[in-house]
Amino acid sequence: MGALLDDRAIAQRILDHIDNQTTDLGESCWREPVENYRSPERLELELERAFRTTPTPLCPSAALPTPGSYLARDAAGVPLLAVRGADGVARVFRNACRHRGTQLACGHGREKAFVCRYHGWAYGLDGALRNVPHDYGFPELDKTTHGLVPVRTEERSGIVFVTQQPTTDAPQPIDAPDGLLGPELQLIAMNESVTEANWKIVAEGFLEGYHIFSTHRESFYPVQFDNLNVIERFGRNSRVTFPYRNIQKLRTVEPEQRRVAGTLTHVYHFFPNVIVATFPKRMVMTVLEPQGISATRTVNYTLAAEVTLATDKEGVERDAGFVNRGAREDRDVVESIQRGMASGANEVFEFGRFEAAIVHFHRNLDEAIAVGA
Ligand code: FES
Ligand SMILES: [Fe+2]
Repeated sequence: MGALLDDRAIAQRILDHIDNQTTDLGESCWREPVENYRSPERLELELERAFRTTPTPLCPSAALPTPGSYLARDAAGVPLLAVRGADGVARVFRNACRHRGTQLACGHGREKAFVCRYHGWAYGLDGALRNVPHDYGFPELDKTTHGLVPVRTEERSGIVFVTQQPTTDAPQPIDAPDGLLGPELQLIAMNESVTEANWKIVAEGFLEGYHIFSTHRESFYPVQFDNLNVIERFGRNSRVTFPYRNIQKLRTVEPEQRRVAGTLTHVYHFFPNVIVATFPKRMVMTVLEPQGISATRTVNYTLAAEVTLATDKEGVERDAGFVNRGAREDRDVVESIQRGMASGANEVFEFGRFEAAIVHFHRNLDEAIAVGA
């Protein structure tokens, strides 16, 4: 993994940008064909060759806090069931009974076992088929080969990653900063909504600060800066940092003593479709699940530290208002882009040097699609 800047380096880079009225710049621009946002064939390739072959965050570890905790969700159009076993290990299965395919769970909760509601086949938390009612009706059934079908799962940095269609037998490397979602975090909310836009337009909205003044004039801009970001890449992922105006207080702190918590938002983009954003009092993981070519289900997992919840509930609520207002503004723009595509005005969308994390995203997406060709 390419190393990300530490607190001291990132604070210095931001203070220098403020002094020089500059921002991070990518080496090159990018022109993305509009057709790639409108083509169902392209979406199929994206799902097949990028989403399903990449170790992708399914949910935060905090969504599976104890043995028996489960969470069911579609990922890249495939129904999955994540479960924490009695041994504490997080496992993910394809969410379908091995008898005749009924889904075993929906939503999230806690169970001792999964019993199919159709005919009662029962599976353990480890996915093993434990019981078949009246099993003399299946004289040839080998229970040991009829457990739930597992998906390659790895838990790292407080995130449950799944690889639905591994391209190698060896585990694929996972690029995730150490300790990103720490064990002190609790899941405080899970919500979802549908945005009427292609998933890539939604993703792009998270990955640059060039629009802070124009789009977020009364929400983010009063506390942040327009077009002032640090942009880093790690593997196929990126991290875009959005400083707050209060970062100026670090000028009077010795460089080695500088801590950036509360003075910026880091937006981590996990290729291809997951965002983790840090706010002063909460963290949000956002999963973008395509619902066809022109709609995206946005699933948000919101986390906060136990101690913050105990001592500063107000702060946690304040963050929510801040984030939600900005998110509504982004959604308006994103849906407008989707509608605007019908104008036929653009054959390509232009991404400039401020939008380097988006360039990185499209370059990697093109490469992933080309590799499978
Ligand atoms: S489909 Fe699950 S027990 Fe029959
Ligand atoms: Fe925005």
